[in-house]
Amino acid sequence: MSRAELLNLFVSCPGGVEALLEQELRAVLPKGKIEALRGGCAVRAEAEGVLIINLESRLAQRVLVELIEGGYRHEDDLYALARQVDWERWITPRHTIKVDTTAHRSPLKSLNFATLRVKDAICDTLRDATGERPSVDTYAPDLPVVLHVGEERAALYVDTSGEPLFKRGWRVDKGDAPLKETLAAAMLAAAGWKGTPDTGGALHDPCCGSGTIPIEAALIASGAAPGIMRRFAFEAQLPFQPLQNRWAELKRAAQARVHAPAVPIYASDVAFRMVDFARRNAERAGVAQYIQFNGGDALERPAPQLPEGMPGTLMMNPPYGERIEVRGKAAAVREHSGSEQRDATDDFFPRLASHWKRGYTQASAGWTAWMLSPDMKLPTKMRLKESRRFPMWNGPIECRLFRFDLVAGSARAPRSEVANAEPND
Ligand SMILES: C[S@@+](CC[C@H](N)C(=O)[O-])C[C@H]1O[C@@H](n2cnc3c(N)ncnc32)[C@H](O)[C@@H]1O
Repeated sequence: MSRAELLNLFVSCPGGVEALLEQELRAVLPKGKIEALRGGCAVRAEAEGVLIINLESRLAQRVLVELIEGGYRHEDDLYALARQVDWERWITPRHTIKVDTTAHRSPLKSLNFATLRVKDAICDTLRDATGERPSVDTYAPDLPVVLHVGEERAALYVDTSGEPLFKRGWRVDKGDAPLKETLAAAMLAAAGWKGTPDTGGALHDPCCGSGTIPIEAALIASGAAPGIMRRFAFEAQLPFQPLQNRWAELKRAAQARVHAPAVPIYASDVAFRMVDFARRNAERAGVAQYIQFNGGDALERPAPQLPEGMPGTLMMNPPYGERIEVRGKAAAVREHSGSEQRDATDDFFPRLASHWKRGYTQASAGWTAWMLSPDMKLPTKMRLKESRRFPMWNGPIECRLFRFDLVAGSARAPRSEVANAEPND
């Protein structure tokens, strides 16, 4: 592969994030040809684009290079398809491989057998060329290969990321229901929050759990590249070896641009154990000094005092009552009411809204709250009218990111913004 050869990439992302990913990729790869599809973006770019997207994209899950695509009916056709690929360009027999298969309406009975046939094709191709076969490493292969089988057509990709990109390398302490880093970044991107006084201002997550939202926010606000702390599969793959110097340069430039944020970032949680986790995660991410951590019930946390004229953004995925219970004052009310049927979230959300209306409408430039929830009735529970709602998938869970404008005396949104919102479900 020459440096200037154009590659067909598929950059995957969480459902609902495709348009935001397209925008982000246009910014990090101005020369790339980019098109949003379902579940990601198709990108046509030079090999250097693979390095840049892996290093800089906050929203992408994986960067795949398409190798070949064709019709198939049974597993032998997949073997024949994979035999057409010049695997010697990608690895030597001393490298390790792993094949994963994804399917959409495939007529095949056994995806395991399909996977095996592609693995055989890679091994046979290398054995014919060199006399040796590569071995399989299911944990950290040098060449992760993805086979996608559709109804009639199949495609083979090389995964250049290795571990999915939401694994930034800083998270060790997880908590019970952590958001993926890519989804936290997508929430911030949907809000247009970029960590400056003009793009959302200060940030506060009053149910921070393991700290995903404030840590992602601090990385954005300090200009840190999301992939700077980790390794990628492409680092071992042959086509990217001539780009080693360029890779070192890209990382050096990314490190050199890191700066202190221009806005304050706050994080708190009712569980002191979670605050501890969040602080430790932030230390590993190198941004602990940019986040003010506190323990405490969200129903009691006073609004942070912001510099005159600076707006504030509340960003959170609150406890849903399924995997993560509401704790603190609202939970105590439930216990005393003696009713097993009564859900603590029934008390928590209206009280949170009243608390915000009392305390968070005073800042001169105002606060805007963004909440990710699978509960389509959240605005009703909050007794607030949302001004926007974005569909987003938290893994398999369909959610909405709701925006509430906390305006003194009124929680109603301006008409123009209601007109932009997704129609109420
Ligand atoms: C869904 S989790 C948030 C996960 C977080 N975004 C992360 O990535 O780890 C909800 C969090 O709300 C916290 N929580 C529950 N009740 C609370 C309350 N009344 N005040 C503040 N935090 C609360 C829980 O301790 C939990 O950490």
